[in-house]
Amino acid sequence: MNKAEKQAQQKLHIDRRRLLYRLSELGAIGATQDGGVSRLALTDEDREGRRIFETWLQRLGLTARVDRVGNIVAVRPGRAELPPILLGSHLDSVRNGGRLDGPYGVLSALEVLETLHDSGISTLRPIGVISFTNEEGVRYAPGMLGSHVVCGAVTVEEARGAIGEDGTAFGAELDRIGYAGDLDPVSIRPGAYLEIHIEQGPILEREQTSIGVVEGVVGITWLEITLEGAANHAGTTPTRLRRDAGLVAARIAAFLRTLALSIGEEMRATCGVMAFEPNAVNVIPGRAALRADLRHPDPDVLARAERRLRSYIARAASQERVTATVRSLEHVKAVRFDSGVIGAVQNAAELLGHSARRMVSGAGHDAQLMSAVCPAAMIFVPSIDGISHSPREHTPPEALEAGANVLLHAALELANRTQIGAPASVQPSSTT
Ligand code: HGY
Ligand code: MN
Ligand code: MN
Repeated sequence: MNKAEKQAQQKLHIDRRRLLYRLSELGAIGATQDGGVSRLALTDEDREGRRIFETWLQRLGLTARVDRVGNIVAVRPGRAELPPILLGSHLDSVRNGGRLDGPYGVLSALEVLETLHDSGISTLRPIGVISFTNEEGVRYAPGMLGSHVVCGAVTVEEARGAIGEDGTAFGAELDRIGYAGDLDPVSIRPGAYLEIHIEQGPILEREQTSIGVVEGVVGITWLEITLEGAANHAGTTPTRLRRDAGLVAARIAAFLRTLALSIGEEMRATCGVMAFEPNAVNVIPGRAALRADLRHPDPDVLARAERRLRSYIARAASQERVTATVRSLEHVKAVRFDSGVIGAVQNAAELLGHSARRMVSGAGHDAQLMSAVCPAAMIFVPSIDGISHSPREHTPPEALEAGANVLLHAALELANRTQIGAPASVQPSSTT
């Protein structure tokens, strides 16, 4: 590309005002008191968020297709009938989370399509946007359920049968909000998938770097542990006679920190959910349930950590004469993204003069599943104080704009390539 062509290219940019406006419009749906958002998958708030997204697609003249698990996809035609470059993320949130995690990726993708439309630019390949159902997995496990189904790791029937933390069935709720579409999820086979996302960690901000060129994602294991002891009187039951399910749950939660520290800096172990029954101040918990989230970039280390946790659970339960049941909620393999797609992100950051650094994601993303069906990669922008899954989640507007412009130019490069790298060798996750 000569100097004039490069300058012409650099002039092509997204409409920052429009992107920020849409992020705030979407953020108002499910808004919480303290500036956060709760838009759990398949809730009324999720339906409202989906609807506003579809309205923006329609205004752009794009036809939104909905697949059988509620993934929403729309494609801007290219000059050739080639598999599209798909840009996406998710619209659902965690409970009282931030406004950028997910929507920033979906709305930046929409912004790319609208910018190309406004500029009258055609591309060799079609470029599309996809919003995946239930990425967060807070209500229904596993997380990234929409992309699990697209890549074939979970069937539509298995997804519809998932029972939520609130006892509802995924399929019934999908039907209730009117998003059980007819598109076959496994027909979604892009030429490449690219996702922009906030980093949700401290690295880019600490290093004053604008763009994260994401080379891969850690592996994730979720376990649900149910403990059955004996409810009894808190005052009259001597310690030696207790079968305290709550005590065992608390010990397991504490062991997660020991496990993480014993393995090292890259290991993450979290207990974010715990419940006691009957949950009364003067009753020894007869039953307890907790969920463990384990993550590591190395599959063998992650598997070893899971084995250690399972044997700790068995020991802690038998010491208290409590029975333990462990159920796998999610097993998503660590992935390395495609060098061809990574290269397009690197090129776009350089074209626009943004500082960039290679990195691996500690957060799970739909790109992790999509890399089993097509070449994929991700782009990160900084998170202030590294905070996410919190109302304090924040990325400055100029950083959001810079990231969306990198997405625009990386997508343009990919959409004008006839050949795109080979899909990652890691197979889709095996969820159980
Ligand atoms: O859990 C995750 O890493 C993602 O935010 N769903
Ligand atoms: Mn996310
Ligand atoms: Mn998230």
